[in-house]
Amino acid sequence: MCGIYDKISSMDKIIIANWKMNPASLKEAEKIAKESDVEDLIICPPFLFLEAVSKTIHKAKLGAQDLFWEDKGAYTGEVSPVELKNLGVKYAIIGHSERRQNLGETDKIVAKKIAAAVDNDLTPILCVGETKDERAAGKTEEIIKRELKIGLSLLANQPHTLNPIIAYEPIWAIGTGTPDTPENMLNMVKFIKETLVTSGYTLNPKIIYGGSVNSQNAEEFLKHEEINGALVGGASLKSEEIIKIVKIAKQY
Ligand code: 13P
Repeated sequence: MCGIYDKISSMDKIIIANWKMNPASLKEAEKIAKESDVEDLIICPPFLFLEAVSKTIHKAKLGAQDLFWEDKGAYTGEVSPVELKNLGVKYAIIGHSERRQNLGETDKIVAKKIAAAVDNDLTPILCVGETKDERAAGKTEEIIKRELKIGLSLLANQPHTLNPIIAYEPIWAIGTGTPDTPENMLNMVKFIKETLVTSGYTLNPKIIYGGSVNSQNAEEFLKHEEINGALVGGASLKSEEIIKIVKIAKQY
């Protein structure tokens, strides 16, 4: 399966470093990138540091944390998929819960961004996940289903060569130090695959986990064949942590 991944990665698992709005200076960004430059890692720095990081890394791959859905034009403050592609970016995180919650990013916007990424040969990393309240109300599956169905809707009827990566990131587990359980993630992987089939989507995505992953708990997730990798926030800013996580992933 998934020829595109085989070309760019020597291992089956995908580890993605989402630096979010960190660090504060170019110098620090270059330092972290240099120290984290290992194969099989995708580094997603802030837009501002993409170019410097692209020049610093030789083994890791480059990802963006977002993109705009148009290729060019009068869209103040936005960054286009074409600009990213021309900079050597290969991946783009799309629909992160922090953008959905803080910036009102809707499923329809996410769908446009996913399509724009694929049109420009960028592998989209679609983030889905429920809040604590939604989970408590028993709405987890409803939310994930909606985010998948709409988020991927513009790819569904198009011929595509890139499979998206789907990151299940329960919002209550992000930045809290309390990850979800591997058992729940395994159920979620099954649910995501079933949802794609019942929606008539012939996509074959890698499905990864995100939310308080660190070098202490990564193995519990990565040892399962069904869990194809991890999306790491806070721990990815410490190079020794992210390198340990990549090493754990390589064992499976
Ligand atoms: P943390 O690893 O800091 O919980 O963040 C997860 C995340 O949101 C990655 O996209």
